Amino acid sequence: MKIPYRDLSIKNLILRKELLQAVNRVLSHGRIILGPEVRQFEKQLMQFCQKKYAIGVNSGTDALYLALRSLNIGPGDEVITTPLSWIATVNAIAVCGATPVFVDISEDLNINVDLIEAAITPKTKVILPVHFTGKLCNILRIMEIAAKHDIFVVEDSAQSFGAHINGAMAGSFGHINCFSMNPMKVLCSYGESGAVVTDDEHLYQKIMSLRYAGTVNKENCYYPSLNDRIDTIQAAMILVNLKYLTKKIELRRKIAKFYTQALKDVVICPEEDDSSHVYYSYTIIAEKRDELKEYLCSKGIETKIQHPILMPYHTAYRHLSKFSIPVAESLVNKILCVPNEENLTFKQANYVVNCIKEFYGAC
Ligand SMILES: Cc1ncc(COP(=O)(O)O)c(C=O)c1O
Repeated sequence: MKIPYRDLSIKNLILRKELLQAVNRVLSHGRIILGPEVRQFEKQLMQFCQKKYAIGVNSGTDALYLALRSLNIGPGDEVITTPLSWIATVNAIAVCGATPVFVDISEDLNINVDLIEAAITPKTKVILPVHFTGKLCNILRIMEIAAKHDIFVVEDSAQSFGAHINGAMAGSFGHINCFSMNPMKVLCSYGESGAVVTDDEHLYQKIMSLRYAGTVNKENCYYPSLNDRIDTIQAAMILVNLKYLTKKIELRRKIAKFYTQALKDVVICPEEDDSSHVYYSYTIIAEKRDELKEYLCSKGIETKIQHPILMPYHTAYRHLSKFSIPVAESLVNKILCVPNEENLTFKQANYVVNCIKEFYGAC
């Protein structure tokens, strides 16, 4: 049996038809740049996240960059974040000229909130937590810490669209909240795209301006910036996917439940608490991870390590001062994402389980 980690081709013919119709509509009305679907997408996002403002942008990376720029984050400022994320998280901080400060993670792979206050200095301007793997970090506690120290929170919700705590959505807690809708994401487009949401009108106006070369009324440049607009075609396709989001998350949660029940005595499985996990990835913590990965590959099962290099250890960040991140250093050698997309069949999921058990001699 061959099981890819993610198959991005569209097999569902109804969905494919709806996506093509959405593209066709854009090609017909011709408002290719910031067409009506962009505003529609932004409005639906506002409703979904219960926020006053939403701005479609052309990637999750740009969403983070624009969020930090709108807060005037720059040289001399410190931004607290996790060491375990896609490198875009720290790149956004560094490209603004600020200094990233890495706080260790817990076993749930999210930033350890108990360690945040010790990392706050007079230079700290922002806490930038990531809801890693699609599981909410302890964002309520982070908001309390931020309020106490009068600093901003920019949520990196790139992996967690649809996750919530009692109905309060990932991306609705921070002062500014950033999403990626790239094709790997739970709510996805078919190219690069992302979004920012906020309740703050001033920040909204500033991000709107920064999104298009820092201009006001599309002409006069107030703040040097880049072109970060979302394509109308991508917005139109996300709108189609939004209709199927609940079902998609439900299916992913079902697969996760099956995996956890079958594997909990063999490897460490993602734990659910009162927050809802959308399983952007189903990431296990496994002893002999590299051998397991190789074994699964020999059985036709593709897996991923997200991410094999902790952000402070990328070449670009080795000059930063040393951080105490022992948990991240240990877990980065044990994490493994197994196939969990919504159209995985029960037979395939069962095969993955049996191969993992076989590897550990637990059949
Ligand atoms: C946690 C996290 N932050 C930021 C990003 C960047 O998003 P994009 O790829 O849309 O630029 C990603 C994308 O994988 C991500 O996983």
